[in-house]
Amino acid sequence: MTTLQAEIAKRRTFGIISHPDAGKTTLTEKLLLFGGAIQKAGTVKRNKAEKTATSDFMEIEKQRGISVATSVMGFEYNGVKVNILDTPGHKDFAEDTYRTLTAVDSVILVVDCVKGVEEQTRKLMQVCRMRHTPVIIFVNKLDREGKDPFDLLEELEKELNISTRPLSWPIGIGHSFKGVYQLNNKALNLFSANKKQIADDKITIGNLEDAKVNELLGHDLAGKLREDVELIEAVAEPFDRSLYLSGYLAPVFFGSAINNFGVQELLETFIEIAPSPQGRETDTRKVESAEPKFTGFVFKIHANLDPNHRDRIAFCRICSGTFKRNTFYQHNRLGKKMKFASPTSFMADNKSLVEEAYPGDVIGLYDSGNFKIGDTLTEGENLQFVGIPSFSPEIFRELENNDPFKTKQLEKGIHQLSDEGVAQLFIQNPGNRKIIGTVGELQFEVIQFRLLNEYGASCSFRHMNISKAKWVSASSDEELKKFIQRHSSKIAYDKENKPVFLAASAWDIEYATKQFPEISFHDTSEWR
Ligand code: G4P
Repeated sequence: MTTLQAEIAKRRTFGIISHPDAGKTTLTEKLLLFGGAIQKAGTVKRNKAEKTATSDFMEIEKQRGISVATSVMGFEYNGVKVNILDTPGHKDFAEDTYRTLTAVDSVILVVDCVKGVEEQTRKLMQVCRMRHTPVIIFVNKLDREGKDPFDLLEELEKELNISTRPLSWPIGIGHSFKGVYQLNNKALNLFSANKKQIADDKITIGNLEDAKVNELLGHDLAGKLREDVELIEAVAEPFDRSLYLSGYLAPVFFGSAINNFGVQELLETFIEIAPSPQGRETDTRKVESAEPKFTGFVFKIHANLDPNHRDRIAFCRICSGTFKRNTFYQHNRLGKKMKFASPTSFMADNKSLVEEAYPGDVIGLYDSGNFKIGDTLTEGENLQFVGIPSFSPEIFRELENNDPFKTKQLEKGIHQLSDEGVAQLFIQNPGNRKIIGTVGELQFEVIQFRLLNEYGASCSFRHMNISKAKWVSASSDEELKKFIQRHSSKIAYDKENKPVFLAASAWDIEYATKQFPEISFHDTSEWR
């Protein structure tokens, strides 16, 4: 095995996703504690600034600052290098989460056992399914009186359109929650009265009929556990890792993140079954992670918090080869060579200089405006990573310039913010009309605040009667041209100059589809 292959084999790069409040932050923190990346609880909790961010600009700023520090959290566990990519919890920043998912090899989805599948759970899972990302589900808050675990499994399968296979099973729920039974290695993990897991509580049993089980759980819980396990073994197929890796089957764990229940079991199984850094598709070919030449792409850009330094940080996922500091690489979109003197890795609460990085790693590159989301770096091969699409925004407003003397600043600012992925910018011609598309109200406040503070440009937004953007294509240029001419008032162009149909309602789209059957309408900016 070469050094590169060994480095790839020991890495796991993943994201934790959930509907807000299901326990993503708590679980992240517990994993970091187990991994020794942080010493005490509370470090990641600061991330919760995002929850209170409504119209308080300082909160928004604070949040941006915090999410830089916690964008990538790395630690070693049992010889494996785990990279957790943070995803914003607030739904108004969902697009940022979707993009981060392009840079991971798998995800852990956290579901609240009281609430079950929620709106964001569904949306995030759709994105995972699009990319066939392997998913492990962690059902959290078993210390609360939640839904019956069998009902939950059914709900997950139905609502998320994925097969499930429990790998652990809760013993009791709410007040009677005693711990979890590990189905794969037949271990009972119990918890002490103060609900802190202690190592001695892990008991391996030969089989559930063992009299010890009655002693430990009491007659009723022991009986219920036996019944449940019998039922699972009777109806569930044995766990098939290849189905998990291809995104069709989600292993399910139960626990309570805040109480440390079931977290270590999750982590240990995750390390065993989750994929190491995978190859990725480009516009010309698939790049395998073990190829010796370096390739990588930018999936996130962060503005510098310090207004005196306009530079930004571009987060680059290494896809193949070895990245080296101070080495020239090719920025394919610009066709120019660049080298990086201070590439940075971000840990839970510190950052450090990177000399070398391997596939699956994420590095921060200081940038003075060269990068856009999706940009590819290589050792010279002309290829572009695909699969980093824009999704249709949900709210659309026209950007209005409040100060004609600052037109240039406004132009520059809004283009840069759109390169960073703060919001999507659509241009409508003639007139260079700027339409901003977002998934949440909060993004408009961020844009207004940042344009003023960083570019000195004052703007406001005008309501528009648009509810959906659809990217349009046709097999012939002629057909597309005809459609665009016919609907010129509803056509705008995205940042790559692709035409987009801005529809007022679902009816609009239906009507256009009937009128122009040869036009294809797409929900994302990439399609095949
Ligand atoms: P998020 O990142 O997905 O938004 O969720 P977060 O971890 O912030 O957790 C949301 C709330 O759920 C928090 O309570 C947290 O303490 C609680 N929580 C997390 N895991 C468990 C669990 O296993 N059992 C129970 N009962 N609660 C859990 P909060 O009141 O919003 O905040 P805090 O004041 O406790 O920090």
